Amino acid sequence: LRAGPLAGKRILVTSGPTHEPIDPVRYIANRSSGAQGTAIANALTGLGAEVIFVTGPATAPMPQHAKIVPVQTAREMLAAAEDALPVDAAIFTAAVADWRVKSASAQKLKKSKDGLPLLDFEENPDILHHIATLSDKRPGLVIGFAAETNDVVDHATAKRLRKGCDWIVANDVSAGTGVMGGADNTVTVIDDSGVDSWPKMTKAEVARRLAERIAQAMS
Ligand code: C5P
Repeated sequence: LRAGPLAGKRILVTSGPTHEPIDPVRYIANRSSGAQGTAIANALTGLGAEVIFVTGPATAPMPQHAKIVPVQTAREMLAAAEDALPVDAAIFTAAVADWRVKSASAQKLKKSKDGLPLLDFEENPDILHHIATLSDKRPGLVIGFAAETNDVVDHATAKRLRKGCDWIVANDVSAGTGVMGGADNTVTVIDDSGVDSWPKMTKAEVARRLAERIAQAMS
């Protein structure tokens, strides 16, 4: 058992991209290193929480003291997140692919003179929305992320309500910010009492500050 303000709390963190197969060697995915998710998991265990870290194929190092649950696809991530319940809080940092290929091929698609492959898509489950709107096992605190390229606060405020989460952590990932794959992040935390804009800091500092805010909210 760990000591700290989050001792005895069980927290789910989703992280990384999901990979949605096209065939055994190809996939579609969002850009995501998993760095912010790993930093958040480390900050939470640092304050004493038990963390279940459900992660797609990330390039960032795995968190040190969390229970790691590796997954590939959005559907696997949803199942793993549901398996982790009940939790006291859930933080959704994963960059989940919005669509999957409807009938992924069991064999590698071959180049052909007859033309290009046509991919049919279907929608993936929204894991955050699903968990945030559970009637029985909804975690006490649900936090979503919003990577936006413009009108960050407006879009994130709408997203918080649409998703049913308590807080949304919004960041500007437009070209030139260097957030994607970089060390720094500039975030705005939105909850039902308003908008809290933090100065630019490292992802590790964002994680520590967020973990402290979570500890305060849960105390
Ligand atoms: O809708 P959008 O992808 O911008 O929402 C971002 C938030 O929703 C993030 O917290 C992300 O982890 C979560 N999400 C999810 N499942 C999806 C899509 C997004 O959990 N299929």
